[in-house]
Amino acid sequence: MPERRFFREECYIAGEWLGGGSVIDVNNPATGESIGTVPNLGRAETQRAIDAAHAVFPEWRERSADERGDLCRKIFEALMDNQAALGELLTVEMGKPLAEAKGEVAYAASFFKWFGEEARRVYGDIVPSSWADKRIVVTKQPVGVVGSITPWNFPTAMIARKAAAALAAGCPIICKPALQTPYSALAYGVIADDIGLPKGVLSVITGPAPEIADEFCENPKVRKITFTGSTPVGKTLSSNALRYMKRVSMELGGNAPFIVFDDADLDRAVDGAVACKYRNSGQTCVSANRILVQAGIYDAFAEKFAAKVKSMKVGNGLEDGVEQGPLIDEAAVAKVEAHITDATSKGAEILTGGKRHELGGTFFEPTVLRDVASTMRVSCDETFGPVAPLFKFETEEEAIRMANDTEYGLASYFYTRDLGRAWRVMEALEYGIIGVNEGIISTPVAPFGGVKDSGQGREGSKYGLEDYLDIKYALVGGLR
Ligand code: SIN
Repeated sequence: MPERRFFREECYIAGEWLGGGSVIDVNNPATGESIGTVPNLGRAETQRAIDAAHAVFPEWRERSADERGDLCRKIFEALMDNQAALGELLTVEMGKPLAEAKGEVAYAASFFKWFGEEARRVYGDIVPSSWADKRIVVTKQPVGVVGSITPWNFPTAMIARKAAAALAAGCPIICKPALQTPYSALAYGVIADDIGLPKGVLSVITGPAPEIADEFCENPKVRKITFTGSTPVGKTLSSNALRYMKRVSMELGGNAPFIVFDDADLDRAVDGAVACKYRNSGQTCVSANRILVQAGIYDAFAEKFAAKVKSMKVGNGLEDGVEQGPLIDEAAVAKVEAHITDATSKGAEILTGGKRHELGGTFFEPTVLRDVASTMRVSCDETFGPVAPLFKFETEEEAIRMANDTEYGLASYFYTRDLGRAWRVMEALEYGIIGVNEGIISTPVAPFGGVKDSGQGREGSKYGLEDYLDIKYALVGGLR
C-alpha cells in the first residue's frame, strides 16, 4: 500500500476531512483486490462544499496574483516532492505502469507551475475610446465557484488541468473524481492542508456523478462546470448546465487519426505510433484510434510497428519494466474484444495480440490489426484500449477525407517530410490538436481541446486561463 499519508478514505470538504455513512469500494485493477473505501456522498455534502467555496470566494479573488501564484507553486512543489508516493498510489488504483504514473504526477505538477506563473499575466485592455471625455476599460475577473468532474484515466493530471487554472484565476473549485480512482484526487486535499490553502478553496467529494453533477448545475452559487469524459455524458451535462446559464468546458471523446504518408521517416512514425497508441494502454482520449498508412509504405510500416508492439511487456504496473498495465475494468475489456471480433469477422487480420492476456483479470494483449476498413466499428467508435487498426489509403485527398470522416475533432497526427504537404494537411484536418511528426502532444503550455463532438473550451496555455475568467467592460465618463 502506498504511503499512508496520501491514502485518505475520507472526503476533503470545506477544509475538513469527512467520513461516515455508506461507502464505495475501490479495487486495484491489476490484482482485483480491494484497496479501501471512500464515502458515498451526495447533494447535501456537495452543497456544503459549494457553500464553503462561495463563502471564501471574495477573500480568494482579492488575494494578489502573486499570492495565488505562490500557492500554485507550492502545490507544484508538493506534487514533485512526493512524486514517487503519488505515482505509486496512482498505479495501485488505476493500473498504469509506475514510470507512466510518476510521469503523470510531473505532468500534473507542471500545470500548477504554469498557471501559477500565468496568474500574474491576466491582463486587461484600455480600448481607444469613441468619446473624448470617456475611457473604455476592459478587465478580467474570476468566474466564481467551479464544479469539476474528472475521469479515471489521468486521475492526477485531469484535476490539475482544471484546478490549477481555477485557483490561478481566483476561483474556488470542487473536484468530483471518478469512483475508480478517488485516492489520487483526495491526495490534493492532503496537499491543500499541508500548504495552508484557505478552507473551501479546494474540496474533493466522492459519490454518484449524476447527483453531484445535478447539484453543480442547479446550485446558483456554482458559476462554471468543467468536465472531462465521454461525449454522451458531456452533452447531457452541457444541456443541463445551459438551462442554468452556467459556463462550461467540455473535454470529450475522440477518434484520432494517425496518418503516415509514403514520404515519412518510417522509424520515427513507428515510434510515434507506439507512443501515441499504447500510452496508458490506449485509454487516452488523444490516443491514435485509426492508423492510416499510405499504400507505398503500408507493409513496411505494418511489419515494423507490429514487431515493436509484440515486444511490449504487460503486467502489474508496479513491476519493473512493465509497459502496459491492466485495463480499468471488465467493461473496457469487453469493448476491446467486441471491436476485434467485429473487425476480424469483416476481414481484418491480427498481426499481434488479439485476445485477453494470460495474466487474466483485465490484462489484454497489445494488438495490431491490418486491412481494416471503414465498415468496421473501430473506424467510428473510440476503442479506448490497446488495439491499433491499420487502414490503407492511396492519396493525400483520400487520407484527409478519411481522417475527417468522424463526428469527433480532438487530436490528429500525421507524418511527412514534405513541407508543402505538412501545411496543406495541417490546415485541412478538422481537429483542435495536430501532431506533425509527433505522437505525444500534451504540455501545459499549449491549448488542449477539441472541435465538433469532442467538446468546447481549452485546457492548459493562456487560453485555458481565459476559460475561468469573465470579461468586464467599464465605460468611465465625465472626464472633461
Ligand atoms: C485525456 O486522455 O483526457 C488527456 C490526455 C493528455 O492530457 O495527454
